[in-house]
Amino acid sequence: MNQAPLLMLGIFAALSTSWFGLVVWPQIQLGALKPVEIEETGEIYPSARPGLAQQGAEVYRANNCAACHSQQVRPGADINRGWGPRRTVAQDYLFDAPVMLGSSRIGPDLANIGARQLDDNWHLIHLYKPRLIVEKSSMPSYRFLFTKRALDAGAKPSPNALKLSPEETKRLEGYEMVPKPDALALVAYLRSLRADAPLFEAPLPAKPGLKPAKLSAPSTNSPAKK
Ligand code: HEC
Repeated sequence: MNQAPLLMLGIFAALSTSWFGLVVWPQIQLGALKPVEIEETGEIYPSARPGLAQQGAEVYRANNCAACHSQQVRPGADINRGWGPRRTVAQDYLFDAPVMLGSSRIGPDLANIGARQLDDNWHLIHLYKPRLIVEKSSMPSYRFLFTKRALDAGAKPSPNALKLSPEETKRLEGYEMVPKPDALALVAYLRSLRADAPLFEAPLPAKPGLKPAKLSAPSTNSPAKK
């Protein structure tokens, strides 16, 4: 008996089911995601990144920060480590192209670094020399994102120069470190990383001691507990 048609049918079935499972089904599930309005604040979430932060995303990609940093908070342990108030969901990546999830965590998760560290100068010094800020840090230095500029005797430092400690300033011996545009864009990107809006599919955990939110329409058939 000629088995060829059966074989072809088998190959076709295998290819079409995998195409359906890997391409069509995710598209049906996630393809129509749109920004939503957050009930409590009336804000639209997520919103597109401002231009400078968008440029910073390219610097993050070019320097492969995702080799050591993830951007995905999983339920349970990750939340308890303080990496985010809730788990990350697909909605959080709506304006990310490409999504830089990261596959290893040599450094902390950065999904919410924008809410954790609000000081631009902290970020800049950390990128310049992580050990100036975090003792024994194993993060590499991104010194090439800064320019070393000579300070004339008695001249005041430039307004955009790094605000370093007196010891480090002394070590530079009459020079100052000025962030290049890429460093500023990268920090704008880090500051824009927040995935902490309460969403229907990932609400923020209720704080202990807080009463549950009231329903908007008073319900008549549930007796009030005293
Ligand atoms: C070789 C691995 C490695 C690479 C590559 C790396 N980091 Fe890190 N990063 C770390 C480690 C380890 C820490 C924790 C120690 C510290 O805070 O310095 C860290 C900490 C951080 C923190 C502070 C996080 C917090 O919660 O306090 C930020 C922000 C950060 N990295 C940004 C970046 C950026 C931006 C890049 C790319 C330009 C990058 N990292 C590349 C390893 C890395």
